[in-house]
Amino acid sequence: MCGIVGYIGKRQVFPILIKGLKRLEYRGYDSAGVAMINDNGDLSVYKTKGKVADLERFCEDKDISGTVGIAHTRWATHGEPSSVNAHPHYSESKNIAIIHNGIIENYADLKKKLVADGVKFRSDTDTEVIVQLIEYIQTRKNVDLLTAVRFALTQLIGAYAIAVLDKRDKDQIIAARKQSPLVIGIGEDEFFLGSDATPIIEYTDKVVYLDDDNIAVIRRGEDLKVVNTLNDTLNPEICTVDLDLGQIEKGGFPHFMLKEIFEQPECLENCMRGRINVEANNVTLSAVIDYRRQLLAAKRVIIVACGTSWHAGLIGKQLIESLCRIPVEVEYASEFRYRNPVIDSSDVVIAISQSGETADTLAAVNLAKDNGAFVYGVCNAIGSSIPRDTDTGSYIHVGPEIGVASTKAFTGQVTVLLMLALALGKEKGTITNEQYSKIVSELCTVPEKMKSLLKLNDRISELSKTFTYASNFLYLGRGYNYPVALEGALKLKEISYIHAEGYPAAEMKHGPIALIDSDMPVVVIAPHDEMYQKVLSNIQEIKARKGKVIALVSKGDDTISKIADEVIEIPQTLECLEPLVASIPLQLLAYHIAVCKGKNVDQPRNLAKSVTVE
Ligand code: AGP
Ligand code: GLU
Repeated sequence: MCGIVGYIGKRQVFPILIKGLKRLEYRGYDSAGVAMINDNGDLSVYKTKGKVADLERFCEDKDISGTVGIAHTRWATHGEPSSVNAHPHYSESKNIAIIHNGIIENYADLKKKLVADGVKFRSDTDTEVIVQLIEYIQTRKNVDLLTAVRFALTQLIGAYAIAVLDKRDKDQIIAARKQSPLVIGIGEDEFFLGSDATPIIEYTDKVVYLDDDNIAVIRRGEDLKVVNTLNDTLNPEICTVDLDLGQIEKGGFPHFMLKEIFEQPECLENCMRGRINVEANNVTLSAVIDYRRQLLAAKRVIIVACGTSWHAGLIGKQLIESLCRIPVEVEYASEFRYRNPVIDSSDVVIAISQSGETADTLAAVNLAKDNGAFVYGVCNAIGSSIPRDTDTGSYIHVGPEIGVASTKAFTGQVTVLLMLALALGKEKGTITNEQYSKIVSELCTVPEKMKSLLKLNDRISELSKTFTYASNFLYLGRGYNYPVALEGALKLKEISYIHAEGYPAAEMKHGPIALIDSDMPVVVIAPHDEMYQKVLSNIQEIKARKGKVIALVSKGDDTISKIADEVIEIPQTLECLEPLVASIPLQLLAYHIAVCKGKNVDQPRNLAKSVTVE
């Protein structure tokens, strides 16, 4: 997974490439590079280990002239992060440069054959084999670049989005994709390339989302041409992107993650807009109307997702089971796809993914489809691969999420799953009118409740300082709040590198209680709901072993407040809506602990925003 940017036109290319890479840095950030054909007709390739800012510094004394170029920010899959393994990669003659997002699974076989034929490789990457193969075909068969690219692609097994530049033709970029995203922006006598639309929207809102096995021939002064590997000309659909630049910048916050936490009230309103009618007390999801028959026929629902989206799926299970009375299984997409699951046309599979590009979730979607299941996507990134591969779905509409730690996407996913359960439950008649109305009207109050929670930011920031010493954390919750505990623990570990585990509170006595001592902070989600007394007993058990309790309690709670070390009050709401409010203080807690520890909150080590590799 990595970020790809490209440009060909009248403007100087370097600033466009760098700005584009910065927007895509969430996709990978272990090394970065650019290839440009400069004003003297030379192909300059500059690349370095580190971030895009390091690349910018590296290029300070270099010739950065030129009006055509490609650039890459990497998240290594094959070959350690280093300047040699950074993209772009050259062909042996140094005439051709390539950038690549994805994995070439048969690269070792191809490389062996090319090496046996005398081709010299420079890097340890799988990517280099593509550019070497293109040149090999070009010279051996004496064909043009497009033909060489077409022939090379038919030999590749795996996933790729690529852009290719040949120094002998400064008027052309060739790009292609298979299972990795690639978007082409069409301006006035200029073209842009991006892994998503964010590097492009500043210049044009007209884009083409390349489909699998499409090859784009992008020529200066000509219309965009798209062909398939057999060289048949295709008619790509030109779409208009509706993305505001302000949405992808930090807007005064020190980090994207904090900005995104604070955006949640507005995100939820956007997510519910046009779907919830407060006056009529009604939820309408177009997918449920259009695919009523398929959804009502479901004998079982299987939710597939990874990471935070999987946690949202656990909440979705409880919602769908209780409101629609359909049995639900929640699967890690990476496990589901490889274990020959029992699945047929009576199943509805819900794939949850913020990016819409997670390789395992996408593969699970295709497996489910191949087995005849009806597949419903719950995604954020518009036009991404999962929404395009599913039968139908609902976008969560929370805007681009840049921080690697998912925040607003989680609450957006839970909201869409709740709306889906409500709409379907009503159609099935498994929910009473009274229950339905109560949930709908209470859901409409959640954005205001979130705003009141965000006012706790300073207090949580203070409190966080007390806990930076910890090397372990436990998170406990029950029912709807058990997945919230898992998500709270994931947030903390991924950005602060403190080990944290989430458990159903009652499970504590079956093992984790052994860990509790005076150094162990335990975050307990303990609102005033049906489980309150039970969770209260769990808190007593922790205190009896000198653990430090940070409790999330309902406003006005005066029992737990007396026992816990720290108390965070959350507004009272219906049990099924508790995840939407309880998540916010936990996101803030993880954020502030990581900031206090001086960690790079938006780009935690070893992680990338969009996991497009297995
Ligand atoms: C969450 O904070 C993560 N960084 C990660 O677990 C993420 O949720 C997971 O990779 C799934 O991504 P997706 O929603 O884009 O499919
Ligand atoms: N497989 C390629 C590499 O390791 C590309 C990885 C990516 O998509 O960032 O260099």
